[in-house]
Amino acid sequence: MVTVRAPATSANLGSGFDVFGVALDRPADVVRVEPAERTTIEVTGTGSEYIPTDPAGNTAGVVARELDAPARIRIDKGIRPASGLGSSAASAAAAALGLNRVYDLGYDRRSLVAVAAEGERAVSGHAHEDNVAPALLGGFTAATGDAVRHTPADVPLVVCLPDQAVSTRDAREVVPRSVDIDDYVETAGSAATLVLGMVRDDPELVGRGFRESAVTPARAALIDGYDRVREAALAAGATGVTVSGAGPGVLAACRDGNRRRVAAAMVEGFREAGVDARAYQTRTGNGAELFE
Ligand code: HSE
Repeated sequence: MVTVRAPATSANLGSGFDVFGVALDRPADVVRVEPAERTTIEVTGTGSEYIPTDPAGNTAGVVARELDAPARIRIDKGIRPASGLGSSAASAAAAALGLNRVYDLGYDRRSLVAVAAEGERAVSGHAHEDNVAPALLGGFTAATGDAVRHTPADVPLVVCLPDQAVSTRDAREVVPRSVDIDDYVETAGSAATLVLGMVRDDPELVGRGFRESAVTPARAALIDGYDRVREAALAAGATGVTVSGAGPGVLAACRDGNRRRVAAAMVEGFREAGVDARAYQTRTGNGAELFE
């Protein structure tokens, strides 16, 4: 049996819809994997009552099927489902890494990204890699379908999680099918700025690189209190704010030393909008860790 700790992740980062992702140092799922005659799934922890235990509908179960590696898979959720923090991706990444080890399948982490993305397809209808890539590789990743580019990164972040659920499937339905050329130009500039910020561990550039005006406003409209929370975070010194993944989590880039203030301001912003929320003071972190 092996145990895998797989981190929460934040996808999109504003300007990299379906491409950019970052691993967070907390929260995380802990998944235990042991070979078995057929795959079974057990789920405990935060939001476990909403997670299917039928292997065909569970991201980890789908990964076991993809790898032809049946197993008893026990998932202890630290990452709430439908949060925008890559909850389903963490379970898929953990299962892929664990099964690869217990069955000695010989994949490297990059090859496991595509396998874990099949788990994402099962829950959202789309095999996006922008959460599973950082969950497996850590740091900052750009997943373009044909390749995954990766750099370690060290940037302070806050993620604020309102007591509200937004399913990825629903959040994908509000994404516009075409973009204005001015928005396109802004997004290209922001994406370049963000990559530079990640490479340089520069929170100013990272926050500036979140700016995007096509997908983010459509997603933000699904989050009660988003505008208020964004303004509060910026007033508290955040260098940029955007929707985390498909939402409803809200991500803020911070300078070292002001995460506590930003976190408190975001929780208060949600409270003023009548929404309970909790904030994680976090930073870019490592990919999934395996324990024998
Ligand atoms: N890129 C995906 C989306 C991530 O925003 O729909 C979902 O977690």
